[in-house]
Amino acid sequence: MRARIGSEAWLRYETVESEALREEYRNACAAVAIAGETKVLRTAATELKEAMRAMTGYSPELVAARDLEASGVIIGVLGGGDAAIDGAIGGEADAIGDEGYVIRSMRGSAGESGRILIAGKSDRGALYGTFHLIRLMQQREPLGGLHIVETPANGLRMINQWDNMDGSIERGYAGKSIFYRDGRFVEDLTRVREYARLLSSVGINAISINNVNVHREETKLITTAYEETLVKVADILRAYGIGLFLSINFASPIAIGGLSTADPLDPAVRGWWAERASDLYRAIPDFGGFLVKADSEFRPGPFTYGRNHADGANMLAEALAPHGGLVIWRCFVYNCLQDWRDRSTDRARAAYDHFTPLDGQFADNVILQIKNGPMDFQVREPVSPLFGGLRETNQVLELQITQEYTGQQKHVCYLVPQWKEVLDFDTHAAGEGTTVAKIANGGAWNRPYGGIAAVSNIGDDACWTGHPLAQANLYGYGRLIWNPSLTAEGIASEWIRLSHSCDPAVEDAVLGILMNSWGIYESYTAPLGVGWMVSPNHHYGPNVDGYEYSKWGTYHFADCRGIGVDRTIGTGTGYAAQYHSPWRETYDSPESCPDELLLFFHHVPYTHVLRSGKTVIQHIYDTHFEGAEAAAALLDEWLSLRGKINEEDFELVASRLAEQRDHAKEWRDVINTYFCRKSGIADGQGRLIY
Ligand code: GCU
Repeated sequence: MRARIGSEAWLRYETVESEALREEYRNACAAVAIAGETKVLRTAATELKEAMRAMTGYSPELVAARDLEASGVIIGVLGGGDAAIDGAIGGEADAIGDEGYVIRSMRGSAGESGRILIAGKSDRGALYGTFHLIRLMQQREPLGGLHIVETPANGLRMINQWDNMDGSIERGYAGKSIFYRDGRFVEDLTRVREYARLLSSVGINAISINNVNVHREETKLITTAYEETLVKVADILRAYGIGLFLSINFASPIAIGGLSTADPLDPAVRGWWAERASDLYRAIPDFGGFLVKADSEFRPGPFTYGRNHADGANMLAEALAPHGGLVIWRCFVYNCLQDWRDRSTDRARAAYDHFTPLDGQFADNVILQIKNGPMDFQVREPVSPLFGGLRETNQVLELQITQEYTGQQKHVCYLVPQWKEVLDFDTHAAGEGTTVAKIANGGAWNRPYGGIAAVSNIGDDACWTGHPLAQANLYGYGRLIWNPSLTAEGIASEWIRLSHSCDPAVEDAVLGILMNSWGIYESYTAPLGVGWMVSPNHHYGPNVDGYEYSKWGTYHFADCRGIGVDRTIGTGTGYAAQYHSPWRETYDSPESCPDELLLFFHHVPYTHVLRSGKTVIQHIYDTHFEGAEAAAALLDEWLSLRGKINEEDFELVASRLAEQRDHAKEWRDVINTYFCRKSGIADGQGRLIY
């Protein structure tokens, strides 16, 4: 097994073992032609040529489409002047949207070799099609008789970097930033280019490159101070079909603009933002727009001036609109100093309470970015009721690929199954079938913009993600948001074959590890949807009362009588009423509430009997033992793959799984000891005594 070039991840091009298949690929891709001349089409051709060279030892010539005589691949855009490409799309033009593609093998007439046509309505589509063809070869698929029609389900397919200019990454678990070091951009942007390749290969088309918490130096990213490098970064990304966005500091007019206010209704403030936008678009004509965290976790926002979030977002939208830019405004707005002893307030309610009254008031180029749950990327939360609460507002779903609360890339936790549950959740907002997937992509209410964004999990670490298995989350994110009907298993299998091996024994074992990992992590950490119970600030490791914003009252309300948060309509915070029926009623009653969310919605005695038939305390106790055992078994499973996986990855994953095994025991002991003591229903040895 050859040593791995760390940066290649799933774009790993091992030589095709079978001579016959190599020959087939060489014939099919004897030459590569592009119909049209754009940077993105050039990228596509170069990528295919490079993949061919690595997998077959043959480097196809790049020719103009009209000069292609024998067999080969033509990559092009509908209406770009090539009749074969136009013919390949034919009646499927409507089916592929702006960024989809058609791949067709066309048999040559007698004596003539065949061709493969990769046709998009845009060059981005053609590039995604090219990566699809490469994926087929990586998985040793035959290339005869291809007729593939693909279109992305979501318009905006975005990554949010939480990178700071000092090189650190907020909630980053894979080394330092690939963009910045010591207060400036890195000199060598090679890694940025490699990252762009990875993202583009799974269909990502937008990225914001700085942390949503925009502090000192980062505030200046929107000024001409960083223009030269920003232009370079935008060029690199553009060649891969990725649009550049920046996170902004709402108080910029004060922080760097010399104004005394950042009031969104002040004409001088509006003028200042309009100038920043003009500067940015002069340098980068296809600049994407701004991502904004305002009035949240001590960041400035319109509330300071007695304005609301529509005022704030629309002010920025006005500055960007003449240039076609977007404002992506985050709904993660809550009072972190909330006193939890005052049970009339509830952080879970905050996003809905702030934003539903503003529905219909946002400018057309504003998109609200809504976290998947009402809290903060916990291992288990209900779906945010804000999905279903807004009809006349553009929305994108926000996910977190970086594993802040799910093991920080020390524990394996494949998150695609969780994201699928979110996307498939039927809000019933416009009757049955109003899933989050349909709301997020804009389909439910025919919104002009929609999509999905997620916080990245990469750093300058050799394998990108700290834990080699965490790459599956980045890959899976791209694939799932392209097509939410793909299965989590299917995506994982594909990732294993591309990144590690097509050996079925490897696929079986790694698939088992990935598919069980979320459930295992959940079972030894915070139980039954109650969340948190992590160490303060860094959020790694068990600490039942530890979460930093618990100091004004705990987040779990555990006392000697019971545990959980009463969010019912009758006696609790009323949060359950933010859902449409039937969820409102389902969640409101402890009898019908799904077990895994019981403590999110209800405060119950430890002896409450779950739908599973176990009491709450017995469930906590048992799942923590089972979870720790299952975590230990993951390591054994992995060790059975020695010699079948390249050594570097094998050793790294083995050491991470050993850490997970030990840490899972710590979780088990801390949680079980706490609750056995708290509930008073266990003896000195931790045995339950009721
Ligand atoms: C979480 C996370 C913060 C982050 C915030 C956000 O609270 O811990 O680091 O800034 O989410 O999404 O803005």
